[in-house]
Amino acid sequence: MNVDGVPHRTIWLAEDGWSVEIIDQTKLPHRFETLRLTSLDQAAEAIRSMQVRGAPLIGATAAYGIALAMAEDAGDAALKAAYDSLLATRPTAVNLRWALDDLYDLLQPLGANARAAAAYLRAAEICEEDVALCRAIGDRGLPLIEAIAARKGGAPVNVLTHCNAGWLATVDWGTATAPIYLAHDKGIAVKVWVDETRPRNQGASLTAWELTQHGVPHAIVADNVGGHLMQQGLVDLCIVGTDRTTRRGDVCNKIGTYLKALAARDNGVPFYVALPGPTVDWTLEDGRDVPIEERDAREVTHVTGRNEAGELATVEISNPGSPAANYAFDVTPARLVTGLITERGVCEASAEGLAGLYPERAGRA
Ligand code: MRU
Repeated sequence: MNVDGVPHRTIWLAEDGWSVEIIDQTKLPHRFETLRLTSLDQAAEAIRSMQVRGAPLIGATAAYGIALAMAEDAGDAALKAAYDSLLATRPTAVNLRWALDDLYDLLQPLGANARAAAAYLRAAEICEEDVALCRAIGDRGLPLIEAIAARKGGAPVNVLTHCNAGWLATVDWGTATAPIYLAHDKGIAVKVWVDETRPRNQGASLTAWELTQHGVPHAIVADNVGGHLMQQGLVDLCIVGTDRTTRRGDVCNKIGTYLKALAARDNGVPFYVALPGPTVDWTLEDGRDVPIEERDAREVTHVTGRNEAGELATVEISNPGSPAANYAFDVTPARLVTGLITERGVCEASAEGLAGLYPERAGRA
């Protein structure tokens, strides 16, 4: 997608042909800064500190993390250590493990002198594949928005989304946002309700930024507003992303997603989840088995923003000394999900629905 009118991705190989550049998402929306990663440790830290985040982008960054590690030392021990260190960065998004397994299975049988080149090649392929998957999710999801637009006779389609499942969370296009961008580009009037998404405010800072860059009408709402909007008939459709969806269609996503799904069900609002194939964890059935990341309590008690002088500043917003708990994700049971929008089509959130789209995966865990 575009940044100030110039096409951009979230991760790319630097001109030197071996280091990797990313957008530093901790600086958005106030500053657009890119960062060069030159080592495994820097790649791991970028994921851990959420300079890159979002399930698909975490996977892509991990793939390049392996490549950076192999450029330095391509021995067996270094490969295993790189795998372990990247896997330990964040626990919930399964795309991380998917990308690491993919790279490990590819590189392990190769001789050490062939590993770095193969790793860079595969990391680049994973990025290209992600772009294609997300674009296909857009194509598959677009008819849902078109149908509502037709029913409303051209009045804006109001879509509510949570967190950032936009292009910043992927390599390009995004998952939940891909159908929205395609609808907007086709001239369909769309308005996006952007949940602020406490505590890290990915909606208010990242989704709002990228929708602004693309000219998509939107409004940021506090996290608890969605239920009210749905009661008032102001939401036609919810589309969110996911960090891990189990083989029976339970959806783990950013904390607060579950409450939106409950409100959607109570108000008869369709609740769709957009995801690429690598976000399905075929080894898990029950969403309650997904490891839920618990992050630093300081993310709840403090916020970072820009002050009137234009400087970034972090301030404490809660009672000093009060403990806080910071659960980063929750699970929406499949029964609350209207459908899964994948690159292969829209299916029911169920074992049968997913197996119908991914028959080659469904049989083997
Ligand atoms: O903690 P984050 O910012 O990495 O969480 C991101 C999300 O929850 C997204 O909704 C999810 O990764 C889907 S991204 C296409």
